Amino acid sequence: MAHLVGVIRGDGTGPEVIAEGLKVLDAVRDGFEVELVEFDLGAERHLRTGEVLPDAELDRLREVDAILLGAVGDPRVRPGILERDLLLRIRFELDQYVNLRPIVRYPGVQTLVPSHTEDDVDMIVVRENSEGLYSGAGGFHRKGTSHEVAVQESINTRHGVERIVRYAFELATKRRNKLTLVHKTNVLTFAGDLYQRVVDEVGEEYPDVERDYVHVDAACIYFLDWPGRFDVIVTDNMFGDIITDLGAMIQGGMGIAAGGNINPVGVSMFEPIGGTAPDHTGKGTINPLAAIGAVEMLLRQLGETPAADGVDRGIRAATTRMKSMRAGEMGYSTSEVGDLVVEGAAR
Ligand code: IPM
Ligand code: MN
Repeated sequence: MAHLVGVIRGDGTGPEVIAEGLKVLDAVRDGFEVELVEFDLGAERHLRTGEVLPDAELDRLREVDAILLGAVGDPRVRPGILERDLLLRIRFELDQYVNLRPIVRYPGVQTLVPSHTEDDVDMIVVRENSEGLYSGAGGFHRKGTSHEVAVQESINTRHGVERIVRYAFELATKRRNKLTLVHKTNVLTFAGDLYQRVVDEVGEEYPDVERDYVHVDAACIYFLDWPGRFDVIVTDNMFGDIITDLGAMIQGGMGIAAGGNINPVGVSMFEPIGGTAPDHTGKGTINPLAAIGAVEMLLRQLGETPAADGVDRGIRAATTRMKSMRAGEMGYSTSEVGDLVVEGAAR
């Protein structure tokens, strides 16, 4: 039986990094088949046809076993269109309610924080991915007047909070048994209160998992000052978005940060968490490791553990040899980095 993998190469450097991800996927494949299902989605299609995500495409996405996404976005498309109507729509419609973002420092990687040692940085952020400030609730009143009101509401449901918190506790039991809630309970006294109560209640079912709480602003300090204090972090959609960019920087840069939009009982989508990097498009200078890390996560989700472990070995072999994780400063081209991973995975 073949795994059906939907591929959205997307815009900018998306296609280049996906090509490397698929090269690695093919190299580590052993004892299973992968059938690629291509999706023409992103800025190019939108500019060509006006469409963003036709319902028929969404239905095709529901039929695959997992999705690999490059990046979407283009300076020619008004901000918000591709983000809301493509990326967020897929996350919401496929109910990918977990945004899983590992923050790992691979061997030999330099970062902007000289005080960190390599093993200081090894945590995972479980970002709520289906509600909060991303729900789109709110609106304008008297738009364009001097009395304009803009309301953007954070929707937090008991169901939504409970399922993300449960996912995080389960994950903690498979790691170092520590769960930190990151929120802003001193100001967001409704949403934060709900999160805290759910963590306390669900936590009763996980007596072996140590739990604590850190305000989101203080969490930013700890990312720099004491990242080793974190194992699993659970947080809401907006805070999770922000702290995982900081997380990427303590990994060595956006070029290495991968994430998964997970529906534990449905179709999940894996992506490098950076953008389309228009300045690097077509030059062979973009770092494909984040996309390759997304392939590793995809393989784990499909239950192909030895293949995923191979990708992990390959990434570690590559980072040991690369000069930097930053685009254009890697010491290798995009496709050479892919080759380093393939070579390292085979060992
Ligand atoms: C991310 C991105 C998206 C988000 C944008 C592009 C909608 O920043 O995946 O982190 O905010 O979730
Ligand atoms: Mn983001």
